[in-house]
Amino acid sequence: METTLIILKPDAVQRGLMGRIITRFEDKGLQIVGCKLMKISQQLAATHYEAHKEKGFYPGLVKFMTSSPVLVMALRGNGAITIARNMMGATFGSKANPGTIRGDFGVSNSFNLIHGSDSPEAAERELKLFFNQGEVLDFPRAIEGWVYDMSGGKIE
Ligand code: RTP
Ligand code: MG
Repeated sequence: METTLIILKPDAVQRGLMGRIITRFEDKGLQIVGCKLMKISQQLAATHYEAHKEKGFYPGLVKFMTSSPVLVMALRGNGAITIARNMMGATFGSKANPGTIRGDFGVSNSFNLIHGSDSPEAAERELKLFFNQGEVLDFPRAIEGWVYDMSGGKIE
């Protein structure tokens, strides 16, 4: 099982899209194992996006991410990192395919609704940045045996 960090960015929160985006992940069968509304500090935004520090869009990105509260989530599932990234779509709504979150809910070339970790290493690092110990929970879902076929002793 993988756990990935999802951030519903300030535009998603302000536009009242949290519920619809969360529903997509729940409908897919991914498990929400952590969730909180928070305001990202300058320091946290800088650490989270340090790989982009030298890019021209970096100051605008930090300003956007710290401008208003976000909803951060830890999502768990078999292959959750890639599944969530595919559900998000291309970086900007103007180019993202219909059927994806960015493709269905946005048109901007700057505001893009959602962040998702892009690798297991990134997920591990980012989950630690946004969640304190004990805030990501480990709990069995009653429906687990109908979300995955576990009859062969492994998750299919
Ligand atoms: P994210 O990290 O937020 O999940 O998005 P991503 O992988 O699709 O995009 P990435 O290349 O990692 O860029 C991180 C965020 O920086 C902003 N960005 N702006 N103006 C631009 O050319 C530009 N390029 C990237 C976006 O907010 C993007 O999500
Ligand atoms: Mg990225």
